[in-house]
Amino acid sequence: MNLTVIGTGYVGLVSGTCFSEMGNHVTCVDVDEVKINGLKNGVVPIFEPGLEAMVLSNVKSGNLHFTTSLESSLSNSNIVFIAVGTPMGEDGSADLQYVLSVAKQIGELMDKPLVIVDKSTVPVGTADKVRTAIQKELDSREKNIEFHVVSNPEFLKEGAAIDDFMKPDRVVIGADNEYALGVMRKLYAPFFRTNERFIEMDIRSAEMTKYAANAMLATKISFMNEIANICELVGADVNNVRLGIGSDKRIGYSFIYPGSGYGGSCFPKDVKALARIADENNYSAELISSVEKVNDNQKLVIANKIIARFGDDLNGFTFGLWGLAFKPGTDDMRQAPAIYVVKELVKRGAKIVAYDPKAMTEAKEFYLKDTPEVSYVASKYEVLNNADGLILLTEWKEFRSPDFEEIKSKLKHPVIFDGRNQYNAFDLENNGIEYYQIGKKR
Ligand code: UGA
Repeated sequence: MNLTVIGTGYVGLVSGTCFSEMGNHVTCVDVDEVKINGLKNGVVPIFEPGLEAMVLSNVKSGNLHFTTSLESSLSNSNIVFIAVGTPMGEDGSADLQYVLSVAKQIGELMDKPLVIVDKSTVPVGTADKVRTAIQKELDSREKNIEFHVVSNPEFLKEGAAIDDFMKPDRVVIGADNEYALGVMRKLYAPFFRTNERFIEMDIRSAEMTKYAANAMLATKISFMNEIANICELVGADVNNVRLGIGSDKRIGYSFIYPGSGYGGSCFPKDVKALARIADENNYSAELISSVEKVNDNQKLVIANKIIARFGDDLNGFTFGLWGLAFKPGTDDMRQAPAIYVVKELVKRGAKIVAYDPKAMTEAKEFYLKDTPEVSYVASKYEVLNNADGLILLTEWKEFRSPDFEEIKSKLKHPVIFDGRNQYNAFDLENNGIEYYQIGKKR
């Protein structure tokens, strides 16, 4: 099949590349010329395991193309994916300006029938707006060309995006006619050799499914973080409670790890947008709003433990930091707990020496650019030199079983603040390390 994918951000680039890997002829379009030129030469602007190799091999085989010209790409396609960003607007709602401007351009340029697929995360009702925007342009051109708008939300996880796309748990398609459904079924059929999970529904339900899925997962995390905070107060250990409740199949073990709160580009934005959608429909979404509030507070739990241990005034104290990315396997720092913890400590006079296997450039150039109190080192043990304590905020594999003797001998105070509950408290305390974690009183 011939596909155009508009937007070479995370979702667009991964989707386009994976579709080309399945033998489709894919053209990815973006307005960013530098990015497009880089991609043509196999320079992938994000870190995602397996993506670069897949881009390179499909560019080489001629299945995957990159261009800034939507016009040339549209004339060769029968399916068009809209995968541009829907950033958070000032009021928390999803900002649709990029989606609707792309819809307008499609209407201006299309010269044959198309299936147009919303892949960006968009509020319920956006497919109608996209259809109206396209039709308006066709009317003004006095063209009568058939087109169908479909909703196909994306469920990729950063760090596992290729696998998620190539072996999906499910593909959700919202469509209002059999023809468009048939086209989408055919496109996704090769992804379901072993596991037929193609879920068809009306367009609005598909749009809502994306928000409901992310809000449900975020709710599990905030719920567990709240349980962790209560555990500390009553003398329980959330690590045991997690095992105890996860064994109930109705609850399950996944997404109930307490920690320093969820970050990333999706949960924070989508939870806020869903609350906003409810608001616009005169419904006050109490639970969903609380999920966000609990998460905002949770990002500072580790900072508060440090302040309780070392005092309000942190002038003269230096902390080593392991982990900047919002989760392992990515260089993404959007809404990462590290930003909040670092800023809180620095505000009180502390200095930070940080190490992350992938996200240090992001930190230096964007997220902690205005925080000169943070310095960066090339390996995990270097953060310990002259540090008063060690903080862990991202559970990269290389932090999971470190040399505790080395940690103890290098730190001024043998103290670890663990925002991801990676270690065994009993072992560390027996080893003479003061160990603070989430959801268990020391
Ligand atoms: C999330 C969803 O998991 C994907 O299904 C969805 O497609 C994607 O958003 C999206 O909307 O595009 P992602 O943001 O890549 O994916 O990251 P997750 O692996 O879900 O982790 C999100 C955050 O939750 C991380 O900060 C992680 O540390 C935190 N988390 C996760 C916990 O604190 N505890 C847990 O038990 C699990």
